[in-house]
Amino acid sequence: MTTPTFDNRDGFIWFNGELKPWRDSTLHVLSHALHYASAVFEGERSYNGKVFKLAEHGERLIKSGKILDMTIPYSAAELDAAVLETLKANNIVDGYVRRIAWRGSEMMGVAAQTTKINVAIATWQWPSYFKPEERLKGIRLDLSKWARPAPNTAPTDAKAAGLYMICTMSKHDAERKGYADAMLLDYRGHVAEATGANVFFAKDGKLHTPTPDCFLNGITRRTVIDLAKARGIEVIERTILPEEMADFEECFLTGTAAEVTPVSEIGQYTFTPGQICKTLMEDYMALVTGQKDAVAAE
Ligand SMILES: Cc1ncc(COP(=O)(O)O)c(C=O)c1O
Repeated sequence: MTTPTFDNRDGFIWFNGELKPWRDSTLHVLSHALHYASAVFEGERSYNGKVFKLAEHGERLIKSGKILDMTIPYSAAELDAAVLETLKANNIVDGYVRRIAWRGSEMMGVAAQTTKINVAIATWQWPSYFKPEERLKGIRLDLSKWARPAPNTAPTDAKAAGLYMICTMSKHDAERKGYADAMLLDYRGHVAEATGANVFFAKDGKLHTPTPDCFLNGITRRTVIDLAKARGIEVIERTILPEEMADFEECFLTGTAAEVTPVSEIGQYTFTPGQICKTLMEDYMALVTGQKDAVAAE
């Protein structure tokens, strides 16, 4: 059985205010976003019918838009309600949610002042069951030849489509070499993040994570910092040099898709997933699957 392509599925996509049949949710080839990467998006996850950190994702989408000089024509609350409507229309309980805003086809040039800002929300099944023993083996990461750009070179605080071209190139290189993903250093040569997730290291019972000054301060990253602190684990946000990776005992990635994923290798450096990885993996799963104050799509 082959997996259906993303343009050819049953279901509905919320498209500029209304639910449209999935296959009709298309845009023109002369859309500004396609040519100039004028798009911002979110990746979210629904567990047991509830979207984890729904409001934070809505707010980040609007903030990303503002950074790219795009005013999204819906409030965060309207977008959040639309996410729940889309999940319900597609009967998704455990799934992924993709909200995206992009410039349309009214102008075709670098300046795009009068382009319409379009918004769509799609969702698809993405069950979240993993075997902790499997995950605890850790994944292997390549060290990318690409660097995360400086904040005055690219809109590094935004979840902007254009920033992902270095991620795709890094991940392709990594996969060709047999790795699961890639770690990127930043423009100064400091450890930054993976292609779609933040990174943490553990040593002597403490966590160390790069200061998010040129990459996304992930919602999962912030959640895991709170979980670690609740366990009495000290979290140190600081500059991390690549050679310091030789001294860390454990390493893991955090992200909406990655959740908490232990890492066994980054280039020449090796780690042994242990108690800290295990505890935070378990605490994170307990939190996301048992969210008490989240709004369900009912
Ligand atoms: C490049 C990058 N860094 C970090 C993250 C983690 O962010 P979050 O935890 O908000 O999903 C993501 C995923 O959105 C990402 O794409």
